[in-house]
Amino acid sequence: VRGFSFEVPLPSETTRIAIGPLAEANLGTVAATGCLVLDQALEAAHGVALRAFAARLIREPSAPVVLPGGESCKDPAGLPGLWRQLAARGLDRESALVVAGGGALLDACGFAAATFHRGIRVVNVPTTFVGQVDAGIGGKCALNLDGAKNQVGLVRQPSCVAVDPAFLLTLPDASFRSGLGELAKSALLAGGQLHALTASRAPAVLARDPAALESAIGLALAFKASVVAEDPLDRGRRRILNAGHSAGHVIEAEALRRGLALSHGECVAIGLAIEASAHPRAARDEVVRALGRFALPSRMPFAIESSAARDLLLRDKKRQGGVMSLPVILAPGRVVLEDVPAEALLAPLAAA
Ligand SMILES: NC(=O)c1ccc[n+]([C@@H]2O[C@H](COP(=O)([O-])OP(=O)(O)OC[C@H]3O[C@@H](n4cnc5c(N)ncnc54)[C@H](O)[C@@H]3O)[C@@H](O)[C@H]2O)c1
Ligand SMILES: [Zn+2]
Repeated sequence: VRGFSFEVPLPSETTRIAIGPLAEANLGTVAATGCLVLDQALEAAHGVALRAFAARLIREPSAPVVLPGGESCKDPAGLPGLWRQLAARGLDRESALVVAGGGALLDACGFAAATFHRGIRVVNVPTTFVGQVDAGIGGKCALNLDGAKNQVGLVRQPSCVAVDPAFLLTLPDASFRSGLGELAKSALLAGGQLHALTASRAPAVLARDPAALESAIGLALAFKASVVAEDPLDRGRRRILNAGHSAGHVIEAEALRRGLALSHGECVAIGLAIEASAHPRAARDEVVRALGRFALPSRMPFAIESSAARDLLLRDKKRQGGVMSLPVILAPGRVVLEDVPAEALLAPLAAA
């Protein structure tokens, strides 16, 4: 048997980001053909503005695709229908999609775009707080499989991202609080200006003041961008962005089982505090204080029995054997990845 190996360098991808009123976002022309895909919840209040935005990026836009947003759009069964809608509009490998919606719709459409004709360009317009501080950039596009989240996916960076905090004014409180959890996480990881801003302007952020949101989101995205650029495929440093999520996912699953309304971001907030309890060098007090400024929870709302917590933790994809790679926040802006036995998280999860 003869063989050989060869190296293929990853093509580098550039994402341009505009933060501020959508009507003023100047991102130039992205493609000659393509279309807008939007969440039907946005149609009434933002449909006209989004069509106008798409028409500035795509020279000859086809009719928009309107889809219901939310977690159900991450069902792989919806993909063929979406591909057919793109094909019916005559889109080809040179086309682009402008996608406006929450994190779930961005994930699903990012996946659809990355697989349609082996990959067409995407412009993201995240319209939820989670979308704006997190899902809109970084290129992770995942679908759910048989109820298990993010089991199928790929990483493909969007060409552009336009973030307009005005979209957040219509967001239900629970969805806004979810974004606050992710913002608090980013501020603790990033430290510096973002941590200072979330400390000094927390009331303005909570009141959804557009200027405060614009500053906070801008700094959170700049931080995430720097981490993604260092480790786009999530093999190392990017894992710090999972802070709060190992414990958070366990809490989220238990809350779901009990029928309690706790958003993903609130579970991440509690998860940040729990994970800080599991490591002797973690800055637990700083973490709890930062969460408190955003009126986010930091205590367990219920006790999770150890064997149930262990089962949920061991399902976690960040775990290898009984040891998990856990981001440990030593101080705002100082985070290290450490191997922590899953057992260390069981006691704080079991303490209500
Ligand atoms: N790719 C990533 O890096 C990444 C990061 C974080 C989260 N996610 C994914 O994002 C999803 C969560 O996203 P989400 O929190 O944005 O929720 P979501 O996308 O599920 O949207 C929640 C609801 O908000 C509605 N909505 C959207 N914009 C609105 C607006 N401006 N006003 C009122 N309602 C609006 C939607 O129609 C939907 O019903 C999860 O599936 C998660 O896995 C992905
Ligand atoms: Zn999250």
